[in-house]
Amino acid sequence: MKSNQFKADLKAWANLINTHLKRILEGLNAPLGLKQSMAYSLLAGGKRIRPILCLNWAQMLGLNKEKILNFACALEFIHTYSLIHDDLPAMDDDDFRRGKPSNHKVYGEAMAILAGDALLTYSFELMLDNPIPCSFLLKASRIVSKAAGASGMVGGQVLDLELENKDSVNLEQVQTMHRLKTGALIEVSCLSGAILAQEVGASNKDLDKAKNYGQNIGLAFQIIDDILDVIGDEKKLGKPIGSDIKQGKSTYPTLIGLEQSYDLAQQSINQALECLDDYRGQEKDFLQNLAQYIITRAH
Ligand code: IPE
Ligand code: IPE
Ligand code: MG
Ligand code: MG
Ligand code: MG
Repeated sequence: MKSNQFKADLKAWANLINTHLKRILEGLNAPLGLKQSMAYSLLAGGKRIRPILCLNWAQMLGLNKEKILNFACALEFIHTYSLIHDDLPAMDDDDFRRGKPSNHKVYGEAMAILAGDALLTYSFELMLDNPIPCSFLLKASRIVSKAAGASGMVGGQVLDLELENKDSVNLEQVQTMHRLKTGALIEVSCLSGAILAQEVGASNKDLDKAKNYGQNIGLAFQIIDDILDVIGDEKKLGKPIGSDIKQGKSTYPTLIGLEQSYDLAQQSINQALECLDDYRGQEKDFLQNLAQYIITRAH
């Protein structure tokens, strides 16, 4: 697949998600200020990588994506909540996100916290509201909840804060932090798509492949995020660069330098690509390209 074709496909997938996100928000009955704050961050742009992964894994394994649009969007709700909270002064204290002032800069800290809370809790409704047998919905919702919580993303965010301004941090600690704060949600974005596709016969082996692919691209994704914080273009990224150094964060580049960080990200991507060996078709091609794109992306 040509790179231009991949970019066009990525955009088409993002448009599909955006349309559905808007539809979901329109149906939300909530105080106007809260709704505006949620919509501000949710509809500010964003690559929509997590729902796109979920839909592609599900569709590659034979499930019609239309049946799980709510589920896929729930992943974006969780991700957006994590970004709003991540930018708060008590955390990374960043003033820009997705090319616009951060949520708390516009709506204040209290509303930013509550908008994050509301996005997270709405994701539970969304995960459970899809025309798929309950057993698969429950299984997929349970693993997403676990990955988003104390033993996943939230736990990783805590490690991130604990490793700030520490001298004796090693690569294993940073890798664990990355696997949790970013890897966990990316991993379950793939795995949940495969679990939902059990409705149409996806096997345990398919689940293992989805998990392994997600785990590897998830780690690479955060390594590249660290790299872009050093050498990225703020305009393209839509968020400040140099934030990690300012906050004394422990990152791959601070520990092992840019070149070795790239090498490790590439190694993870190679492992992810192996997970696709048994599959065929356009979703496979797309997931292959998506894995490569994670390394070459500029935002
Ligand atoms: C940024 O995520 C935060 C990380 C977990 C690295 P993305 O790079 O997916 O951000 P958006 O959704 O495209 O804005
Ligand atoms: C974010 O890590 C992880 C989250 C769970 C939000 P970063 O703090 O590096 O993400 P950016 O660089 O602010 O997007
Ligand atoms: Mg952070
Ligand atoms: Mg941050
Ligand atoms: Mg970062």
